Amino acid sequence: MNTDVPARVGVIGGGRMGAGIAQAFLAAGARVAVVEAGGEAAAAARGRVADGLEEAARRGKLDGDVATVLDRLTVVDSPAALDRETGLVIEAVPERADLKAEVLRAAEAAVAPDAVLATNTSSLSVTELAAALAHPAKFLGLHFFNPVPASKLVEVVVAPETAAELVGIAGGWVRALGKTDVVVQDSPGFASSRLGVLLGLEAIRMLEEGVADAEAIDTAMELGYRHPMGPLRSTDLVGLDVRLAIAEYLHRTLGERFAPPQLLRDKVAAGELGRKTGRGFHTYP
Ligand SMILES: NC(=O)c1ccc[n+]([C@@H]2O[C@H](COP(=O)([O-])OP(=O)(O)OC[C@H]3O[C@@H](n4cnc5c(N)ncnc54)[C@H](O)[C@@H]3O)[C@@H](O)[C@H]2O)c1
Repeated sequence: MNTDVPARVGVIGGGRMGAGIAQAFLAAGARVAVVEAGGEAAAAARGRVADGLEEAARRGKLDGDVATVLDRLTVVDSPAALDRETGLVIEAVPERADLKAEVLRAAEAAVAPDAVLATNTSSLSVTELAAALAHPAKFLGLHFFNPVPASKLVEVVVAPETAAELVGIAGGWVRALGKTDVVVQDSPGFASSRLGVLLGLEAIRMLEEGVADAEAIDTAMELGYRHPMGPLRSTDLVGLDVRLAIAEYLHRTLGERFAPPQLLRDKVAAGELGRKTGRGFHTYP
């Protein structure tokens, strides 16, 4: 089994997730090309990767010095500019199926036919994205978590047409990044969001029913079940608007148990989106 990362990696979209993914592969020794549209976006993406590497170095979590690692980064303005030798391309553009299909098709045309393509989507169907490609057997989901450098998990999302051997190879890459892979068949919410969101929604329903206050509900899970963070605090961290959008999608695809509680809708409408606005189920100074 392959225990190294590919020598050349392409990351399409150098935003929050893309920059983190680029940082992880750079730190593991790969040459990484980040695709970002336009001059300002390119500079911002490079800045995000550089900041992430500086932070890792400060924490003593980077092998080698920042400048040497950054030398392996290039930022290009289109998937067509990806090197033909690229072994893996991961897209991390905004969560829109048409946009993801477009950039994946362009990347597929630029790299060799045996290159692996992956999506970092958190909610779209990997199976439907695969249908846009000429070689769906070489495509799968690699669902990284936010923030990428601190997060230990990557869901390896397998679509019906994904080649069986690719699952093991991708798992080896994830472990070479110092993270843990879990294999999940493509289905709404994969493993993580499906369980995490359900717990969060039930916690909100308990708050609505007056079962306990937010602090008590979170503390019950933190101390009683050893969750590092209670379900309401975790909803505040992710963003109530983000959680609502995922819940609506899971409601449509998986049924009533994911119906968003009215309290969640009310808070989103009131602009109480969690940590980023200073108030959600808890308040943040
Ligand atoms: N933020 C999270 O917590 C999280 C967690 C897991 C997965 N995801 C998924 O990762 C993906 C990216 O999310 P994000 O939070 O990094 O978003 P983001 O908005 O921070 O980054 C998206 C980046 O894509 C760039 N972009 C837009 N169109 C492009 C194009 N045509 N070509 C190249 N670059 C383009 C944008 O300039 C931006 O920098 C989404 O699919 C999201 O669902 C997000």
